[in-house]
Amino acid sequence: MSKAKTTGNSEKRKPEKVSTPARGTHRAAGGELHQVAGGEHPALTTNQGLALSDNQNSLRSNPRGPTLLEDFILREKITHFDHERIPERIVHARATGVHGFFELTASLKKYTTARILTEVGEKTPVFTRISTVAGGAGSVDTPRDVRGFAVKFYTKEGNWDLVGNNIPVFFIQDAIKFPDLIHAVKMEPDRGFPQSATAHDTFWDFISLTPESMHMVMWIMSDRTLPRSLRMIEAFGVHSFRLINAAGESTFVKFHWRPKLGLQSTIWDETVKISGADQDFHRRDMFDAIAAGNFPEWEFAVQLFTQEQADSFPFDHLDATKLIPEEMVPLKVIGRMVLDRWPNNFFAETE
Ligand code: HEM
Repeated sequence: MSKAKTTGNSEKRKPEKVSTPARGTHRAAGGELHQVAGGEHPALTTNQGLALSDNQNSLRSNPRGPTLLEDFILREKITHFDHERIPERIVHARATGVHGFFELTASLKKYTTARILTEVGEKTPVFTRISTVAGGAGSVDTPRDVRGFAVKFYTKEGNWDLVGNNIPVFFIQDAIKFPDLIHAVKMEPDRGFPQSATAHDTFWDFISLTPESMHMVMWIMSDRTLPRSLRMIEAFGVHSFRLINAAGESTFVKFHWRPKLGLQSTIWDETVKISGADQDFHRRDMFDAIAAGNFPEWEFAVQLFTQEQADSFPFDHLDATKLIPEEMVPLKVIGRMVLDRWPNNFFAETE
């Protein structure tokens, strides 16, 4: 705690400089030791930036008496410590995240008032977190698994989260089945394995009883779930969203990300070797690419369609186990995303 900590927002406070006679440790009236920051050395501060000389002795009612709750420095230090670990996500625990920007290249002004989709040329900061689904935070990067693709746009009008997967459909039609799906995907309850792979008995049991999953199963058993690099995956918002224009008119939209490097996968034999040689294969690949200035880029595309078109589809576009074929509603590229800055603090920024 030698530096000023950030406060609740992202604005950093400068460490407060105190001019004290000399650096060192002094004994105070009660006999307790106080640390003193001397010269240019930044003072020890609370999380709010308040300089303090002592975080080693709590306030007591008398030298041997009970500790007092009004000692906010003690309470802050213990609270901070108690929260140094957050529970692991039940899904998407293993991820790699990178900062970058989104640039709009074609305006959707006809369809929406959201400035992120109307101001051509505007560069909006983003943070993109690409994850596996089943494995824990320390699991291998390369199991056969769906990849999550979550983009947070820091727009002028507030943050916009576009959560996607590298497969355009989903397993289930009703969210109430999600806990059952994930319990089936996760390790078998009696043996604690497999840690990150979907193909095992409880999963097949679930799938055999859930016919709506069959479309997704065809996708997860394709090479898409063995990406060569996180820089080479496609991603999809999966759901239909609704855009509203200035006149209050509504248009449906599906979102797509298309990698500039093309969609590339490994074959199973390669995946097995890579997993053994380097458990962090995808995270390392992304880190190395960013460090070398090979910034990955994605096209951002939309499928736009009206209520009338939706009514004519021979399927329900609100059903997440269905996609809209590009022959029916072609993709229109409206922007690009470039990832160009690795986090300074992996835990704080990615987790
Ligand atoms: C059916 C209901 C669903 C439920 C109950 C559900 C639940 C969850 C939960 C609990 C998390 C972890 C959040 C956290 O602790 O930070 C999560 C993360 C995530 N989910 Fe879902 N999910 C569902 C459907 C979907 C769908 C359809 C998609 C794809 C569009 C999706 C993509 C993701 C992604 C990408 C993440 C990781 C987000 C990140 O990196 O910050 N999920 N989900």
